[in-house]
Amino acid sequence: MVVLRSESELRLMKEAGKISGEALALAGSMVKPGVSTGEIDDAVRKFIISRGAKPNFLGYAGYPASCCISINNEIIHGIPSKKRIIKEGDIVSIDVGAIKNGYNGDNAATFPAGKISPEAEKLLSVTKECLRRGIEAAKSGNRLGDIGFAVQSYAEENGFSVVRKYVGHGIGEDMHESPDVPNYGKAGTGLRLMPGMMIAIEPMINAGSYEVNDNHADGWLVTTADGSLSAHFEHTVAITKSGNVVLTQI
Ligand code: MF3
Ligand code: CO
Repeated sequence: MVVLRSESELRLMKEAGKISGEALALAGSMVKPGVSTGEIDDAVRKFIISRGAKPNFLGYAGYPASCCISINNEIIHGIPSKKRIIKEGDIVSIDVGAIKNGYNGDNAATFPAGKISPEAEKLLSVTKECLRRGIEAAKSGNRLGDIGFAVQSYAEENGFSVVRKYVGHGIGEDMHESPDVPNYGKAGTGLRLMPGMMIAIEPMINAGSYEVNDNHADGWLVTTADGSLSAHFEHTVAITKSGNVVLTQI
């Protein structure tokens, strides 16, 4: 079931989105060679709690941390650790969210650690632009396939591929709600977008093939099957009568 939310729910979603966006900015500011992903997770958890919210990842389906930090060929769901030290040249994807007053925010971005390769630079800027185009397509009257088409066409024009197995999602009282929001698809197809819908748009773009390996020992990590680099950008977006509002933009 796809829920259409009221203006007052939109205000609550904005609060959760703002805290989620600030937590992501804090996490991104800590990405530097020599810093552990566990330190970033600690800072994120403390920040979210200091804002009177809760980290919505912590305990979600048993997930053991407050954010996901996925480096280089890791696509999503990297579990932070004090033993995992960021190196010069790494690309570091951080996904984080907060729940406040019963409503969820969810956002992600990929940050460079020091100087990164030209290929990595291009992957980051193309993936960020994929998200921008996906958001632009997410307006009332358009369809879900318009979002996927906008993301996929830009990624593939640039020689990259779109992860198929993991997708964006509706969001509200639960972090993951209907509908699925794929980052691939045909323009003009799928569910029609309507005022009151809240969705997380989150392109995961690989430098090589779109195939993933999600058969790792910790039961969470998802990497590229071919070892190529991957980037991830995500915003929580509200569809309104007059366009859309990016709730996690700070
Ligand atoms: N928030 C992530 C997403 O973008 C999912 C995190 S799963 C968790 O959909 F278990 F780590 F919380
Ligand atoms: Co998400």
